Amino acid sequence: MKVLATDMGFGYTKATDGRSHQLFKSILGEANPAQFGESLVGNGSQPPRHFRLGDEAFFVGEWAETQSRGRRFTLDPAQFMAKHAKHLALAAIAPYAPDGDPIRLVTGLPVSFFKRYREAVTALLKGRHALVVFGADGRPVEQQLYIEQVRVIPQPFGSLFGLMLNNLGKPSSQRFVTEKIGIIDIGFRTADFTISDKTRYSERGSLSTDSGMSSAYARVASHLQDQSGVSIELFRLHEAFTHGSLRVKGTLYDLKPVIQQAFDQLAERIATEVNRLWSDDWDLEAIVITGGGGKALYPRLKPLIDGEVLAMPEHEDPRLANVNGYWKYGVHLWGGAASATAPPA
Ligand SMILES: Nc1ncnc2c1ncn2[C@@H]1O[C@H](COP(=O)(O)OP(=O)(O)OP(=O)(O)O)[C@@H](O)[C@H]1O
Ligand SMILES: [Mg+2]
Repeated sequence: MKVLATDMGFGYTKATDGRSHQLFKSILGEANPAQFGESLVGNGSQPPRHFRLGDEAFFVGEWAETQSRGRRFTLDPAQFMAKHAKHLALAAIAPYAPDGDPIRLVTGLPVSFFKRYREAVTALLKGRHALVVFGADGRPVEQQLYIEQVRVIPQPFGSLFGLMLNNLGKPSSQRFVTEKIGIIDIGFRTADFTISDKTRYSERGSLSTDSGMSSAYARVASHLQDQSGVSIELFRLHEAFTHGSLRVKGTLYDLKPVIQQAFDQLAERIATEVNRLWSDDWDLEAIVITGGGGKALYPRLKPLIDGEVLAMPEHEDPRLANVNGYWKYGVHLWGGAASATAPPA
């Protein structure tokens, strides 16, 4: 039995086995074997990005983004669950999944969709999946993924378990076990707010809103459209945000001022949402800010939110905070930490 975790976000899909991790953009695309053969051979150290499930051959992540004609990317939760979640999850865990052996999987859902989709996600992932994985040489290899158990938790609890538990699944920081903690998870599409009261999930204090980073991206996209006349898909703007500039049709656009402005506005919006949602929860002992957007917004949010506001550890990629915590939670539930220390096969 092996414990694995995956976090299918609207922006990025992440997975880990406690030893290594990977992430790719949550984009699916039709596999194009001709292009594959010509341009992508030799990408040996990358985890696989080309799969077949049933009769459907598909690319994920950057391969789908750059190589596929028919690309699927969505910010719509129902469509994401129905058409994307399973393919993204199986692709993400494939490198860590032992062929045919039982896997126990922890994953999450945004808090507002938690009740509605929890059973559906479990049903989608549980069982045996005959996946065909195309390696760097383009050769298909059959892989049986046998997911014997699935546990679905509200996404921000991943970050909380990450802070609370060690790699053996045991509590290592008591305050996160005994205190009432608010968690703000700022992802690509959603901002998720939740409360853990001595590790119990508070339904009343939980909410998902659309205040994810994509709303800042949308502002920058509309600025670029005004300036350049080109309409740019949101998922192609990650690099522009990292560099503070983007070259469109030969012209380099400096985006720093518009990015700063978009971040300021988003932080104010999130702070208003939080202060309203938790107005009765004045007894929160700390508030943790996590998710890929959390790092950029933390300095702006801290002065706008009442209480002790904590950032996630600096050295970790903030996008991985939930998935790392899911895995620790899986080890807490089922044991299996041995898989974290076993030598690579
Ligand atoms: N190195 C990085 N590369 C790309 N984006 C990054 C990076 N570091 C932080 N980010 C930010 O992380 C965001 C994605 O965060 P995250 O992976 O937590 O979202 P998600 O879980 O996919 O989305 P959601 O929670 O809404 O489903 C991006 O929008 C970007 O603003
Ligand atoms: Mg997320």
